[in-house]
Amino acid sequence: MNINQLKEEFINRFGNSNEDIRVFASPGRVNLIGEHIDYNGGNVLPAAINMGTTIIARKRHDRKIVLEATDLNDHVELSIDDIESYKKISWGNYQAGIISELINDGEIIVGADLLYHDTIPHGCGLSSSAAIEVATALVFTTFSQEEKGETKDVDMVRMALIGQRAERNYIGVSCGIMDQFASAMGKNDSAVLLNCSTLDYKYVPLNLKGYKIVIANTNKKRSLISSKYNERCEECASALKYLQEVFPTVKTLSEISPEDFEKHKHVIKDDTCKKRAEHVIYEILRVNKSVEALNKGDVLEFGKLINESGDSLRYRYEVTGTELDALVDAARKVNGCVGARMTGAGFGGCTVNIVNSDSIDEFKEKVSLEYKEKIGYLPSFYITDASDGGREIRR
Ligand code: GLA
Repeated sequence: MNINQLKEEFINRFGNSNEDIRVFASPGRVNLIGEHIDYNGGNVLPAAINMGTTIIARKRHDRKIVLEATDLNDHVELSIDDIESYKKISWGNYQAGIISELINDGEIIVGADLLYHDTIPHGCGLSSSAAIEVATALVFTTFSQEEKGETKDVDMVRMALIGQRAERNYIGVSCGIMDQFASAMGKNDSAVLLNCSTLDYKYVPLNLKGYKIVIANTNKKRSLISSKYNERCEECASALKYLQEVFPTVKTLSEISPEDFEKHKHVIKDDTCKKRAEHVIYEILRVNKSVEALNKGDVLEFGKLINESGDSLRYRYEVTGTELDALVDAARKVNGCVGARMTGAGFGGCTVNIVNSDSIDEFKEKVSLEYKEKIGYLPSFYITDASDGGREIRR
């Protein structure tokens, strides 16, 4: 649906009022390289994608927030004064979490009708929830600043942090900052090089010279992903504890160089934790090498690093699984594909592939065929450019 159609749909559902109808949008993300690094404090390299959440929003004159979505039948009403009571609802809890964090941050929350239009399939690892969080935070911060008479632009880094806090405090997933940051701060034709300890960031132009980012979705229904995710976080924390015997001042694994790691890894007494740490240490190196490769326009080198990252996630971090492995194996057999790996948390979800534009049809055909043979159903594909982050669409 385009914006005019969405506005029409909004009026069909919510009727007319004298308040303006406003449009806000925030994208999902694909992580190019730097996986399972954000909560270890290192550099990551995600890009915002051309799919995400659009919100049609209008202020109300009471203390209610009314939520609907174009792809759901739900009609959810949140009371601003009782915002902590929606943690268990199946849709609307992310929005409530955002409102709760904004209230804690001193924002003035006004009532509103909101229609959500999401173009990312839910739960496929492309950060549909970060897109919802950032877009929702942007709506209510914009409205709050208007109430306060503030004219400055909304601070989008803060929107990312609000999103992460909502996820941790309200939803109960101890995620890193990467997804919300990419959704809030993405830029056209660029990846975002983000230091997850300091939140310093730089845009890296994605000059892929005739290659495209092709995302392939396993279409696997994921379950128990947050407990497996939290397990990896704990294993890294435990590896860090061992290494702190030698490096008492380091606070994250990202502060340990590959040389120091090789010299002292024997102090990590648990082999699983050692493997996890090894992934983290070398993945950060690959991120930095990827930036150099992209700056030089060396797409083949970038693809090679993506492959190495994928192998490390499969064999050292162990977050892939039959479906992701099948997609990656099939992708790497296609001539025009120079890099393929899982992206996001793993255990299902999507892969990211760097594919020559001329080979995309062949890529889809061959990967579909081999995947269907092994797994029994088809994958989906999305071809994406790097996009701008969260914003109000005014026109
Ligand atoms: C999920 C989390 C992110 C990050 C990735 C793995 O997407 O939300 O914070 O940890 O997994 O890189």
